[in-house]
Amino acid sequence: MIRALIVYASLTGNTEEIAHLTAEALNDCGVSVIVKECTDARAIEFTDVDLCVVATYTYGSDGELPDEIYDFYEDLAEVDLCGKVFGCLGSGEEFYGNFCKSADDFDLQFMKTNAIRGADVVKIEENAKDEDKQHIRDFAENLVSTFQKVFTQHISVT
Ligand SMILES: Cc1cc2nc3c(=O)[nH]c(=O)nc-3n(C[C@H](O)[C@H](O)[C@H](O)COP(=O)(O)O)c2cc1C
Repeated sequence: MIRALIVYASLTGNTEEIAHLTAEALNDCGVSVIVKECTDARAIEFTDVDLCVVATYTYGSDGELPDEIYDFYEDLAEVDLCGKVFGCLGSGEEFYGNFCKSADDFDLQFMKTNAIRGADVVKIEENAKDEDKQHIRDFAENLVSTFQKVFTQHISVT
């Protein structure tokens, strides 16, 4: 069974809900999922799973990472995730500019880990609406199909 870890940062609950919607969507694809708040997670834990997912809001005066996920972000660059597939989601507000920049920052940070991007960054205005829920389902399906395409061995018997 494919395994996933979703790590999230959420101040007012929007991203927490997005993380759980992503978990449901992955479950529907037959994936075993653990969801963790970022202060309870360490980047090295991604080495235990196949699909590595970060969901975060964006904060500050200049589209900064939330304080509570900063250490996780720094540690992530040091972890070798060769053989893994990653994806990032963000909640933000267009009003502030730098829309969902922290999700893009994580997308770039994952690129340093040797993991393969399985889906484009999903950016959501505040909480997930029906259209966003479809994007989350597509995101989950893309992660799984990328993992299956790249890492599942097909042995043909002749
Ligand atoms: C002071 C402040 C700064 C913010 N800065 C940004 C920002 O730069 N870019 C962005 O997309 N959203 C920004 N936001 C919006 C939050 O990311 C957004 O409300 C998000 O849905 C919060 O997610 P949460 O409910 O998971 O905490 C900011 C919000 C506040 C209060």
